[in-house]
Amino acid sequence: MTLICAVIAADTPAAAEAMKVEALSAGAEAFEVRLDAFAEIPDDFSFLPTEKPVIATLRSELDEERREIFAKALTSGATYVDIESDSVLRGVFPKSRVICSYHDFTKTPAAWDILRIFRDLSSSGVPKAAFMVRGPADLLEIWKAAVVLKQSGDPFILIGMGAAGEVTRIRAADIGSMISYCAVRPEFASAPGQITVAEAARLGDDPIITAITGWPLEHTRSPQMHNAAFRAAGIRGRYVRIPSTAEELPLLPEVLRCYRIRGANVTIPHKQTVMPLLSEVLPEAKSAGAVNTILVDPSGRLTGTNTDIAGISATIADLRITPSNARVLVAGAGGAARAAVSCLTAAGAAVSVTNRTMEKARTLAAEFGATAVPRDELSAGYDLIINATPAGMSGFSQDIPVPVSILTPDTAVFDMVYEPEMTPLLAAAGDAGVRAAVCGKAMLIAQAAASFTLWTGVEADAAAMTAAFGGSP
Ligand code: ATR
Repeated sequence: MTLICAVIAADTPAAAEAMKVEALSAGAEAFEVRLDAFAEIPDDFSFLPTEKPVIATLRSELDEERREIFAKALTSGATYVDIESDSVLRGVFPKSRVICSYHDFTKTPAAWDILRIFRDLSSSGVPKAAFMVRGPADLLEIWKAAVVLKQSGDPFILIGMGAAGEVTRIRAADIGSMISYCAVRPEFASAPGQITVAEAARLGDDPIITAITGWPLEHTRSPQMHNAAFRAAGIRGRYVRIPSTAEELPLLPEVLRCYRIRGANVTIPHKQTVMPLLSEVLPEAKSAGAVNTILVDPSGRLTGTNTDIAGISATIADLRITPSNARVLVAGAGGAARAAVSCLTAAGAAVSVTNRTMEKARTLAAEFGATAVPRDELSAGYDLIINATPAGMSGFSQDIPVPVSILTPDTAVFDMVYEPEMTPLLAAAGDAGVRAAVCGKAMLIAQAAASFTLWTGVEADAAAMTAAFGGSP
């Protein structure tokens, strides 16, 4: 069983006591008291909690000088003291009262090396090692090592650090880790990827895990949206980041199976390259030429689909446009444009495509029976104009991708850009008095909701997702 261990880092005994009470009511089952957080080490150690297992930790350059403090902690109720593997205090305290720890803040070594480290640590106490996880390869090395460590039946603590390591914390019970270190409040998290005590207690044993992969993943809004939807639906579930380079993407299916991840979103730059790694790609994703959602069935079979299309359809419906026979102009000829053209032509719309590089517009249009129109030949008369280029997105050109003259009161405008929510195109659309105009936020929320429903079978609370859109994960 994995204990939810609250990290108590406070600068006074009174603050430590208050934090302990808060952690207990949130569901803490053990405590790590960070003595190094105190402004001054107190004489009286009666603040150490005694109702649950307690680890006393004091990282310091002054290695030898900690000896007395650790001894006092052990006689004052600490179950364990945490001694680093390279400390001169290693071997000083009884093995049964020591957690012998090792940290690598830059990488995760190969499984055989992890096992070597654990063999060494276990000679001095309960072995604990924390490794920085960079992506799927590191997650698999941790998994392989855990499989072997579990066989011995002896307690151990194994943690993957960093945002990419969060899944190792959520699956700490599967890994076999004796302890999962949790923050009392989000702002107290001592490491990225560390969840709160309350969240760990809410998730309980064996939560549903969903994920997102892409590279880089720093800017994704999906974790906050999906985690809000889990909470709103009362589902014990957590959506984690698994950043992956192109080189490591082929390892993703194994990661999804090992960590029992129910589904994953795929984002830039892997939406196309992930397709050959899947058992099956559904027709809508084939037609769009991209997979943004993977569903993992209980046997480990991976099916790829595309909920961007559901997001586009929902947004078009919100604009009160019936696609059949609607005259639609799509600006752009990349992946986003392709998704729009494929779903609109399938729904019977008369689609025109315009693009900076007309050759690409012609190829896309020809594939779907649409019409390619050069920008300088465009004229008014569209029911809907969709921007599927990054023009207007923060960090990109702020050009308006279509002539302003075609923005008329009969036209609706859908700009797929969501950052910022007001783009030069939408501002020009407003000035021209178009019938309706929306940014890409609604599409993003609708695609997330569609993925959520696919994985959980439960309707997503779009209002909760919208409220969480700009918040923290
Ligand atoms: P995505 O997968 O998000 O659609 P992409 O495949 O890189 O991204 O495609 C981007 C599209 O936006 C392309 O059609 C691109 O035009 P080119 O084919 O000429 O490269 C278009 N695009 C990018 N920047 C643009 C800009 N500043 N103005 C107009 N179109 C732009």
